[in-house]
Formats: sequence, structure tokens, C-alpha cells
Amino acid sequence: MSVDDSTALLAWYDRHARTLPWRAAPGASPPEPYRVWLSEVMLQQTTVAAVKPYFALFTSRWPTVETLAEADEGEVMAAWAGLGYYARARNLIACARAVARDHGGRFPDSEEGLLGLPGVGRYTAAAVAAIAFGRRAVVVDANVERVVARRFAVAESLPGCRPQLRELTDSITPNQRAGDFAQAMMDLGATICTPRGPACGVCPLLDRCAAAKAGMAEAYPVKAAKKARPTRIGTAFWVERDGHVLLCRRPDKGMLGGMRALPSGPWTAQDPGLAEAPIRANWRPLGRVGHIFTHFALDLAVVAADAPDRAADGEWWPIARLDEAGLPTLFAKAAALAQKAAQTGELMRL
Ligand code: ADE
Ligand code: SF4
Repeated sequence: MSVDDSTALLAWYDRHARTLPWRAAPGASPPEPYRVWLSEVMLQQTTVAAVKPYFALFTSRWPTVETLAEADEGEVMAAWAGLGYYARARNLIACARAVARDHGGRFPDSEEGLLGLPGVGRYTAAAVAAIAFGRRAVVVDANVERVVARRFAVAESLPGCRPQLRELTDSITPNQRAGDFAQAMMDLGATICTPRGPACGVCPLLDRCAAAKAGMAEAYPVKAAKKARPTRIGTAFWVERDGHVLLCRRPDKGMLGGMRALPSGPWTAQDPGLAEAPIRANWRPLGRVGHIFTHFALDLAVVAADAPDRAADGEWWPIARLDEAGLPTLFAKAAALAQKAAQTGELMRL
């Protein structure tokens, strides 16, 4: 007689769970809600490998939700630099402050309570309720969607099939160990039921997997035809004076909101050229850097000039300590280009 999905999956998890810094061993008592919440926010659209060093840094610098609530906003944004999706960092601070102020420093222990916190959506609320509080909750991320779409050979395409995937996930979620179950699904999706070349031969769900049975695992989840990603063009300005570079802070609303940056004009379909230059100068073109955002690809020209003085508005940051500025990846790439050009220039003068 065959056992049900969750029994098979939990037995697999008991042997093969990944050991992760924010996670308790299978069946052990849950980790602190703060650590679960922080890791789940960081892990959205971001890989485990990328998150690990950030999780270590945040938990050593701000070990509790109260310490994070009291942190300087600029410092938190700078510490987040490189992780991407910066709205998460602003929401992180707002959420920590709400927990400290409105909940006496304790996270609400139900999905509904968690949903009332800033930046906590359906996924995060379910994940924290299940993993930190042992509540039965239906936790659906992209890994879970893939496993479920294959397990049940869901014919409808993403994103239209999401409600169906949620119902199917609900149908196999156990009443006990919902947190372990959710993490087992995520681990299965990350290590066995991978987007390409899933290892069905060692999968605990093989017996009951409709896609594997049909030899069609990779065909699921079915995806709607993708829209092409438009390209936007812009210019980033490297302005230097006495070993300092001019930085600005991006407006809170919009791309990379609240982050430190090089001055750069609007990013549009038309090349803006030097129209938004922060000073009048003879600009030297240094090259281009690219970055892929969710809704567009950016192609940024990087130009440099020496300023006559440090009168321009902004923050004049010491170039030798630029790694402490917390530049998001796009501007870190542009800065690297400028520093490389400066080095090459020096060599040529030698
Ligand atoms: N991705 C998102 N949350 C996760 C978790 N708790 N474990 C592993 N991968 C995850
Ligand atoms: Fe995924 Fe293959 Fe397992 Fe089905 S049998 S859930 S396709 S790894």
C-alpha cells in the first residue's frame, strides 16, 4: 500500500534536509520567528547561496527584531546592497518597527496577524506561520509550484494556473509538521525537481508523479509565451575631486529607491546622453554596464569628469572606501569601470 505524498516527502526530508543557518533540524523545535521572517524575506527571488552571507551579517549586527527596529535606515539599506529588490529592505525596517511598536517585539503567531505587518504578503505570512509557529499553512513559492505542477501534470499555464496550484498544494499539506513539509517541498524543488533535468529516479514522489509517469517532467509547469523585455538606456556620471566621488541617494519611490547611487538621469527608450549631467564638464566615456531588472533591461553609459571643486549637491564619498557606501550592484559595476579606467590611465602615464 502506498503512503500519501506528505508522509513520503517528510520521510525524505528527515534524511536529506539541507542544513541552513535559519533552519531547525527536521522535527526539532522551531527557530526564532525573527530569524524565520528575515530569511524568508531575503530568500524571495534570491538564491540560498546569495542569502547566506547577508543573513549572517544582519543577524550578527541586528540580532533581534528590536535592534533592527532601532537601526538607522541608511545603514540597513547599505547592508542590503547587492541583494536586489530593494523595496524588501524598506519594508523590512517598517515591519521590524511595527513588530516592536505595536506587538511588544513579538511576531503575531497566525497567518492573519502576520498579514497585517508591512511588506508581509501571502507567501511570507504562510511561511512564517508554518515554519516558526507550526501552524498548518499553505506555502507556495516557485519551487513548490514546479513540484506540484509536475506531480499533478497541471495542463493550464502559469500564471493562470496559480489558484489551481494553491488548491493542489493545500490538498497535500499535512496537519502536522507543516513547516517541515513546506521546507521539504522547497528543498525537493531546489535539489531534485529542478527546472532542467530533474532527478526523478531518486525523488520520493516518483510513484505518484503524473508528469514523470508520462516522461514529461520538464514540460511542467506550462508557461505562457513570454513578452520580450524592453531595454532602457541611461547615463551614469562619475564625478571626481580630491579622491572623492559624488554620490546621491535615489528617491524612495522608484527603482533602487532609497539606495546610494551615482548620479544618473532618467532611464528611457531614448538615449538621454549628457542631458542630466550634475555639473558642466568635459565628459570622458568609459564604457557601458548592463543590468537586468524584472521589467526591463538597462544599458547604462558610464562617463567621468574631474570637478573643479566639491560644490555640487550630494555626498562626496572617499573613493578608497567606496565598498562601504552600499552601492547596489548596477552602480557598483559602473564604479568598477571608472576605477579600472583610472588605473589604466595611470599606467599609460607611467
Ligand atoms: N526558499 C525560501 N524559503 C526557504 C526555506 N525556508 N528553505 C529553503 N529554501 C527556501
Ligand atoms: Fe519532480 Fe520528477 Fe519528482 Fe515528479 S518525479 S516531482 S517531476 S523530480
